Amino acid sequence: MKVSLKNATELLLNGSVVAIPTETVYGLAAWLGKESAIEKIFQLKKRSSSNPLIIHVKNVEECLHYVATIPDDFQKLTSAFWPGPLTVVLPIQEEKIPSIARAGLQTAAFRMPNHPVTLAVLESVSPLVAPSANLSGTPSSTKLQHIENDFGSDFPALDGLCTHGLESTILAQKNGKWEIARLGAISQEAIAKVLGYIPKNNEKTSESPICPGQLLSHYAPKARLILSDQPYKREENPPVVLGFTDRDYSEAKKVFFFGPITNPEEVAHNLYAQLRQLDIEDIQEAWVDIAIPSRGIWATIRERLFRASASQFSNQLGLLFFPSKDH
Ligand code: TXA
Ligand code: MG
Repeated sequence: MKVSLKNATELLLNGSVVAIPTETVYGLAAWLGKESAIEKIFQLKKRSSSNPLIIHVKNVEECLHYVATIPDDFQKLTSAFWPGPLTVVLPIQEEKIPSIARAGLQTAAFRMPNHPVTLAVLESVSPLVAPSANLSGTPSSTKLQHIENDFGSDFPALDGLCTHGLESTILAQKNGKWEIARLGAISQEAIAKVLGYIPKNNEKTSESPICPGQLLSHYAPKARLILSDQPYKREENPPVVLGFTDRDYSEAKKVFFFGPITNPEEVAHNLYAQLRQLDIEDIQEAWVDIAIPSRGIWATIRERLFRASASQFSNQLGLLFFPSKDH
């Protein structure tokens, strides 16, 4: 249910959870000052209490209020990417952040979002903890309609556009160097330019990662996804295709389009909506074209598609790390 800015602010201050648009994906927000509301987020998402939340701040100063020590290059990163889709994991002053929000860790993840609606909310109520607004393990929400599908038509939500369509990139420090804990809307290459070195991609494919977004199965629709970097052949594959507007799948019965292969931003923007559309249309199985590049945000798109197809993940792992050619 669409609510006004004023309404959303009141609800948050009174301890309700409200869906807010960010430039990445929709968030399910609670005010850090209301522990009961933070608890509600975990229940609503069916999220494990061992999976910490990102704290959304209105500016760098607000973030520094919670931080124990400021790591090297923090200023460089925030002046380059805040407000924007970069999340940084920082050591914190534990007494200032309820344990439930950070899953008992001595660190917390922070970001300053770059969305006019959410920045306006943060002017009146901040900081806000907000995970992506979806049921745990399923594709994130990028539209108001997705919130209604997951949490019901009465659930309070602000209306706004999620331009990027991919979650923020998460950086954490290890042995004095920044590493990528989750690929996201900002590419590894863009971060390398600012840091002066290439941050290691520490996004693990293990079953018990430090960043639970790294769980193998994530962002997954109910539909079974068959990933392929080979041309589509109807006789060997499901009749439904997820692919690109500038490619030919004339043998397919139905095609869901991410956008043109020439425009990764548009593909990212449409990614989750198209994965969700499979379930809305009750599609059981789809063939997904992953003859895509592996640089820039394509790396994130590729990784999301792999996790979305997690049941087929183990035998397709090679395609993630060793694509047959750089398309
Ligand atoms: O773009 C985004 O980041 C969106 C929007 C709403 O801001 N939020 C989002 O939140 O994607 P969520 O909860 O779906 O993913 C946050 C990830 C989780 O995988 C969590 O494990 C990780 O951040 N995280 C949070 N605190 C952490 C910490 N202290 N150390 C390592 N990872 C952490
Ligand atoms: Mg999420």
